[in-house]
Amino acid sequence: MRFRIRRPADPPAPPSPEEPEPAPAEQDVEPEAAEPPLSAHEIELIRASVTVVEPLAADMTVYFYAILFARHPEVRPLFPPGMDAQRGRLLRALLRIVDMVDDPENLVRFCGHLGRDHRKFGTLRDHFPAVGACLLDSLARYAGPAWTPDIAAAWTKAYGVVADVMIGAAEEDARTRPAVWPATLVHRVPRGSGIAEVTVRPEVPYAYAAGQYVSVETPWHPRQWRSYSPAHAPREDGTLTFHVRAVPGGTVSTALVHRAVPGDMVRLGAPMGDMVLDAAVHNDLLCVAGGTGLAPIRALVEEVARRGGRHQVNLFLGARTGAELYGVDDMLRMAQRHHWLTVRGAVSDEYIPGIRRSLPQVLAEYGPWYHHDVFLSGPAPMVTSARQTLTLTGTAPDRIHHDPFDVSALATT
Ligand SMILES: Cc1cc2nc3c(=O)[nH]c(=O)nc-3n(C[C@H](O)[C@H](O)[C@H](O)COP(=O)(O)OP(=O)(O)OC[C@H]3O[C@@H](n4cnc5c(N)ncnc54)[C@H](O)[C@@H]3O)c2cc1C
Ligand code: HEM
Repeated sequence: MRFRIRRPADPPAPPSPEEPEPAPAEQDVEPEAAEPPLSAHEIELIRASVTVVEPLAADMTVYFYAILFARHPEVRPLFPPGMDAQRGRLLRALLRIVDMVDDPENLVRFCGHLGRDHRKFGTLRDHFPAVGACLLDSLARYAGPAWTPDIAAAWTKAYGVVADVMIGAAEEDARTRPAVWPATLVHRVPRGSGIAEVTVRPEVPYAYAAGQYVSVETPWHPRQWRSYSPAHAPREDGTLTFHVRAVPGGTVSTALVHRAVPGDMVRLGAPMGDMVLDAAVHNDLLCVAGGTGLAPIRALVEEVARRGGRHQVNLFLGARTGAELYGVDDMLRMAQRHHWLTVRGAVSDEYIPGIRRSLPQVLAEYGPWYHHDVFLSGPAPMVTSARQTLTLTGTAPDRIHHDPFDVSALATT
């Protein structure tokens, strides 16, 4: 199987009401051949081995990193000092890739995202054989007697395919943009309820599309990258404003909300995510947001305005209590300016006349929505229940857009 890496598209045009040019989300990587990279037998062998090691994944992860760092101390500085929370991600992704080995298109898209995303970690081509060998040794150890030369050969092949696509996508990406963008924090404005608006100014232009999200690394927690969504369409002055909520015990969010001061330096990874307006060129929009999940939705609303308000936008804001209905005043002000924008609230756990209902109830009441393109953003349970309600009432799944809940690079569509 050969893979063709498509040339990256140009960066998004600056905002221009006369000629609104959609900003490309990011480069796509497409498979050239339709056939899976592995034979049916090899796929079967790999899946069977995963079934054996999956219950032991936690121990295997510890072992994997232990041998990786012992054999290749040069890669240790790429990883966060304390890795407990994230330890499982790399290995989970590797195991998840197994689910895609017979789906080349998704596999290549997924690995292309991952490869580009890995640039911010400082990953190099030469690191891949080291990780691959430690992975294989870990699998062999935890699969025990179930490990055979045929399984080892199938895994070697699968890892090679994945690594090739990741390396190719990263190297292609490196031709057109930096791996990271240093940025100066220029404002931090507390908004109550543990939320702050944090504005940064990248040192060099940072092209992104409204609705995308950005990995941020702070000086206080090096190599701990967290995703935040700019709450606006691209600005002429190039600044980005994030709405950050300090989660209880949260490492990076707490620092951004309570510690950051103007002049602090952060680093940004490349923008990610497909929750962009181009996914809904001709249809009206249904947007559902909870908490700071409003940020990318707000950006999309600004983008609709920038393009001349050619979509009707129905925005539903959900929260447990009235006090948690984040950003509602701001959005109501926007609705006064834009006739195509309707804003409704839904509060589930507090009696407020007119809006005490769960989001699924409200969506069902005002629907049906199957002619709309849908953008969902907020806590995972909210997104999951809204998605369920909408698909049950006839919205096609491919019209429903939302970001991944956990590992950013796991978005495959
Ligand atoms: C695509 C995407 C976009 C995002 N956009 C935004 C945004 O615009 N604004 C924003 O504030 N956040 C956003 N997030 C969440 C953000 O990336 C971090 O997960 C969050 O700030 C917590 O990071 P932390 O380092 O403070 O917490 P960690 O140190 O990683 O975690 C500390 C504790 O908090 C828990 N925790 C982690 N995340 C959450 C959460 N979201 N809610 C409740 N508990 C949590 C963990 O399980 C852990 O127990 C986004 C996440 C994704 C995947
Ligand atoms: C097939 C090969 C690989 C796969 C599938 C893979 C997958 C992943 C995934 C899914 C994540 C989490 C990403 C996120 O949080 O957004 C991750 C993180 C990371 N990967 Fe990889 N990876 C691979 C190879 C490598 C290599 C070769 C290196 C270089 C040593 C590397 C270094 C890292 C680092 C430093 C992190 C961040 C870890 C953390 O924050 O805890 N990866 N990887």
